[in-house]
Amino acid sequence: MSFPSDFLWGGATAANQCEGAYLEDGKGLSTADVMTLGSHTQKRKTTKTVESQYIYPSHQAVDHFHHYQEDIALFAEMGFTVYRLSINWTRIFPQGDEEKPNEKGLAFYDRIFDELEKYHIEPLITISHFETPLGLQKYGSWENRKVVDFYMRYAKVLLERYQGRVKYWLTFNEINCMSTMPWVSAGIASDNEQIRMSAAYHQFLASAKVVQLAHQIDKNNKVGMMYCGHFAYPHSPHPSDMIATTDFMHQMLFYCDVQCRGYYPNYKIKQFERDGIVLPMQDGDEEILKHGTVDFLSYSYYFTHVTGMKTKGIYKGLNGIDTGYQNPYLPVSEWGWSIDPQGLRYSLNLLYDRYQLPLMIVENGLGAVDVLENGKVHDPYRIDYLRQHLLELEKAITLDGIPVMGYTMWGPIDIVAASTGEMKKRYGFIYVDVDDYGQGSMKRYKKDSFYWYQRVIQTHGESLKEE
Ligand code: BG6
Repeated sequence: MSFPSDFLWGGATAANQCEGAYLEDGKGLSTADVMTLGSHTQKRKTTKTVESQYIYPSHQAVDHFHHYQEDIALFAEMGFTVYRLSINWTRIFPQGDEEKPNEKGLAFYDRIFDELEKYHIEPLITISHFETPLGLQKYGSWENRKVVDFYMRYAKVLLERYQGRVKYWLTFNEINCMSTMPWVSAGIASDNEQIRMSAAYHQFLASAKVVQLAHQIDKNNKVGMMYCGHFAYPHSPHPSDMIATTDFMHQMLFYCDVQCRGYYPNYKIKQFERDGIVLPMQDGDEEILKHGTVDFLSYSYYFTHVTGMKTKGIYKGLNGIDTGYQNPYLPVSEWGWSIDPQGLRYSLNLLYDRYQLPLMIVENGLGAVDVLENGKVHDPYRIDYLRQHLLELEKAITLDGIPVMGYTMWGPIDIVAASTGEMKKRYGFIYVDVDDYGQGSMKRYKKDSFYWYQRVIQTHGESLKEE
């Protein structure tokens, strides 16, 4: 096995999906806090205010806010060397537009970093993970350039406060979700492409500014982008299917192009001209984008698409995810996501060929229904999924020579699913006794996969080949 000696092993979560305590210590409401419980077949509603007849999964989640010590101790027991977590913007700036941060919110993350330091776990911080302050709705959220300044104020507070404690930063989770689920991603409740593209433009600017600021504050800071891993195969060898697939990939990859290269690609500029989209560009912006390219590219990888001339693209489908045609060569998860370990190697090659930047897999995992029986959860399906993916990751490193910095599996502890709001769609190595309706003891249990991952980390990946 040849994972590099400094390869980072760990897991990833998002604040709104695990913390709960949605109003504690002065926290304000975020876009996630007004999203109701949904299901595989029932889309989550966004209510804009909290209404008593609905269940809002983020309000309690798995109460990590009060269990963080226990949870981080369990991560340490597995041997994590990295933990990707997000800071909840509304703990720090409850409305998003205050002049001064909320000290109690900052102190909570200090306590988290204390725990991580105790176990020598490197934090990887997502500055904004699907939780824009609801208070920014009055400005039109990211459609308004003012929000770039509010985000900068927030990011600067984090960079200064946690200087020396945090070295790895991600500016926006899955920035390309602006095209698939703009409310979740950026508090934009519109299908209008002009609005989405203006909002995306503002996020690009904000990200580029953070890259520069982070480097000024501490030259050891490494700032990455985070791409929602959409990768597509053509439905057939018909050239028109290939062109359609290229078009599909352009819709997604332009987000990486801007953040990794520092300018909009020609295909996107041409599309904007055809569609009459005008970017809200001001003098000096081009320089900001050019000098704010990311240090590394991180992404989530769950499934692959099959697309072609007959699929309509990415704007349809439940919860914004349209996986196109069913791939006859691949099994699917209980939530209909294709399972494609080789696609992970393919995606690493595609992105490295295109950008030659260090890559990191910051989400990968299987959402499944788990059964707790006599304090145990037997989850061979999860072990198999992760093992297959890690074996392909290893091939990308050893056979293709791709620099992969690390791997943070998604949801090392069961958390609320982002797309459906369910608890029953579980990813964790650690089972949390709570159901979709918030009922349960919140007790944590180690699943079989807990011990499996512990051994993978202990052996630095060698054990993957044993099975
Ligand atoms: C990614 C998000 O899109 O996928 C996570 O960054 C999310 O927040 C993950 O949880 C898995 O999706 P889901 O809907 O199964 O939770």
